[in-house]
Amino acid sequence: MNYQIAVIKGDGIGPEIVTEAMKVLDAVGNKFGHKFSFTEALMGACAIDETGNPLPDETLAICKKSDAILFGSIGHPKYDNDPNAKVRPEQGLLKLRKELGLYANIRPVAYYPALEAFSPLKTERIEGADFVVVRELTGGIYFGEKGRSEDGTSAYDHCTYSISEIERIAIVGFDLAMKRRKKLTLVDKANVLETSRLWRDTVKKVAAQYPEVELDFLFVDNAAMQMILAPTQFDVILTENMFGDIISDEGSVIGGSIGLLPSASTGDSVGLYEPIHGSYPQGAGKNIANPMATILSAAMLLESSLNLVKEANIIRKAVAQAIENNVATEDLNKTNPVGTNDIGDYIVQVINNN
Ligand code: IPM
Ligand code: MG
Repeated sequence: MNYQIAVIKGDGIGPEIVTEAMKVLDAVGNKFGHKFSFTEALMGACAIDETGNPLPDETLAICKKSDAILFGSIGHPKYDNDPNAKVRPEQGLLKLRKELGLYANIRPVAYYPALEAFSPLKTERIEGADFVVVRELTGGIYFGEKGRSEDGTSAYDHCTYSISEIERIAIVGFDLAMKRRKKLTLVDKANVLETSRLWRDTVKKVAAQYPEVELDFLFVDNAAMQMILAPTQFDVILTENMFGDIISDEGSVIGGSIGLLPSASTGDSVGLYEPIHGSYPQGAGKNIANPMATILSAAMLLESSLNLVKEANIIRKAVAQAIENNVATEDLNKTNPVGTNDIGDYIVQVINNN
């Protein structure tokens, strides 16, 4: 089969890590007789530099026509500390998520025994941890009305959720729980926030359709603590946009490196696949960034958007083999690290020999 893949390399280390994932997709294509046709498009700081717009119309059009989108990272320090910047790289990604209706962000967190030494957490606490954060991605405080008062002395960001927005992401969470260990934890702040109370009501109603799934609730502050004290208690964590952003970075500590965590954003149309980490501008162009999260995102792309399950699994196996054999960038191998491109080459070689 021939598949159209939109490729958004983005800023910072984005181009380097996405190049490795493309190499890996090509290797899988050769092995299984698929052709991946890549169309590159701009988003983020590089798009602002070139067009003045963090999400040019052309990028959106390319994405809409494709079977799936592979994305690296966006962000540039020149915008981070400039509160007066009118356009920001992140606006491109937020608009893309909204325009494509990508309301479900799936972020699996896995523990790799070979990487025990890299997690600052004690092995006995994290051993066997295996959970997925299901983050609502197109609502809440990220997308509410925001602004400053006329005299500039105050600012606001509104957090709004509708029942239908909560229902559709709850269904994604419960369906996933049914394929896993059948436990779902709703993370919220229902002791303080009205939106969280609507989430609880709605999720309880959806739960009635899933009698086999054990449902529990945790306030986000407690959840943040439980995730590092006893992460094995979690199977599927369902949560709203901002809480999901925060706790998924926290979850990466369990795996040993944020450079390992992939994600899938799905919803109404074409899916978007990206590592959960940022653009790491200090590492850009140095061939030191870990491309594994992006390569694992390509595996999620194959499985979720193209239904190519054995192709996805061969990538996961090859990444696991690289980790076991200590073929890793400096985040995971301090004494004898290899370059970003070497990781891609190694994984391609494992796939070819399998
Ligand atoms: C993420 C990122 C984004 C977010 C930024 C880049 C806007 O942190 O995907 O987790 O906050 O959603
Ligand atoms: Mg984030």
